[in-house]
Amino acid sequence: MSHFNVAALLACAVVCLLAASHHAQAAVARANFSNPTYPGKCVVTSDVIMSPGQTGKAPNHPCASVTCMDNGHVEFHTCAAVAPPKGCKQRDFVNTNRSFPECCERAYDCRKYI
Ligand SMILES: *[C@@H]1O[C@H](CO)[C@@H](O)[C@H](O)[C@H]1NC(C)=O
Ligand SMILES: *[C@@H]1O[C@H](CO)[C@@H](O)[C@H](O)[C@H]1NC(C)=O
Repeated sequence: MSHFNVAALLACAVVCLLAASHHAQAAVARANFSNPTYPGKCVVTSDVIMSPGQTGKAPNHPCASVTCMDNGHVEFHTCAAVAPPKGCKQRDFVNTNRSFPECCERAYDCRKYI
């Protein structure tokens, strides 16, 4: 294979990966976490009280973000679904201590089954 072909292949691989990640849809969930004790804030848990516009890692979830909207409404975002490499099984998140979306990185088990 010539150098030109290798370069073209790499360029395609990068573009295709970007296109694929762009199309992968992350789940979004909305909820009402308003609390009269904290008007206008999002009371996600007794420890996690956010102001509108703030984003953080969702509590009680290994890897999701929570964004405080107006009037105590929040938006949860989970990781985009990514197909595992061919012949591999998707395992757990690599490190759920990372912030979102870095925590979305998955481990894969690519041993042959059967
Ligand atoms: C959100 O919940 C609060 C308290 O339960 C309620 O007063 C408010 O009307 C709710 N907002 C919406 C848009 O449902
Ligand atoms: C994640 O954080 C906890 C608590 O700080 C720590 O015990 C654990 O080892 C960390 N895990 C990784 C994979 O870094």
